[in-house]
Amino acid sequence: MPPKSVFITGCNRGIGLELVKQFLKQENGPTHIFATYRKISDELSEVAKSSPKVHLVEMEVTDYNKFPEVVRQVEAVVGSEGLNCLINNAGVLPKNRDLDSVTPEDMRQAFEVNCVAPLLFTRAMLPLLKKAADLQPGAERSVRRAAAIEMSTAVGSIAENSGGGLYAYRSSKTALNQAMKSLSVDLANTGVLVMSMHPGWVQTEMGAPNALITTETCCSEMLTLLKGLADKDHGAFLRYNNTSIPW
Ligand SMILES: NC(=O)c1ccc[n+]([C@@H]2O[C@H](COP(=O)([O-])OP(=O)(O)OC[C@H]3O[C@@H](n4cnc5c(N)ncnc54)[C@H](OP(=O)(O)O)[C@@H]3O)[C@@H](O)[C@H]2O)c1
Repeated sequence: MPPKSVFITGCNRGIGLELVKQFLKQENGPTHIFATYRKISDELSEVAKSSPKVHLVEMEVTDYNKFPEVVRQVEAVVGSEGLNCLINNAGVLPKNRDLDSVTPEDMRQAFEVNCVAPLLFTRAMLPLLKKAADLQPGAERSVRRAAAIEMSTAVGSIAENSGGGLYAYRSSKTALNQAMKSLSVDLANTGVLVMSMHPGWVQTEMGAPNALITTETCCSEMLTLLKGLADKDHGAFLRYNNTSIPW
């Protein structure tokens, strides 16, 4: 079953925007969809105007001081039901990819946006996720109950790294996977599911020119995968089409 409420970072374009659109079309889909942006795009603005279910949240994911205000914004809407699903989707792929060009700033920026921010934002949202989980005591983990989805990438896999390069991006997403794994251990007794997701090679600003699938295909398969997540997927690293990725 889909979540009743979902919070997605980085929704003004790419995968985040398409997730918002597809959650809106879902049968028995969320009543509340929180969509973050830094500078709102016309497309996200149109989607938000089309449905009162969409709540726009302005958010730079590395603005840690703003997290409590964002949590209060969400709480004011979801109240005692808590938040069912957080998708930490916002991410960055620095331009300098090879050994000669990568800079300290590329490494720091990727690490901060792709690992530090999703970890600390998941922590900030935990009280709302736990509230939702506690409403279904004893139930199996699921996105309908409470889940934090960390948008990772297959190139964060050390085992599958045969191409080299991409120092900042790969390292930051490998670190995100490790943070997710620790979270899964620490949250073992909470009923909150945590997992890392590879969305596929997707036609977005980030994914071009090596993309193999459209945002539509990526998100429709991901939503199917999300609906089926259960206890067995806690702490897992999965592709959008529900195949597992070696660490
Ligand atoms: N596309 C692929 O093939 C692919 C493959 C594997 C994994 N992924 C992962 O999937 C996620 C989405 O990727 P995408 O392809 O949709 O990328 P995208 O088109 O480049 O979109 C990235 C989104 O993240 C937001 N963002 C970046 N830095 C941010 C920050 N500091 N604070 C707030 N928002 C920020 C961007 O907002 P602005 O518009 O304001 O910059 C944008 O909305 C990323 O985590 C990416 O690593 C993508």
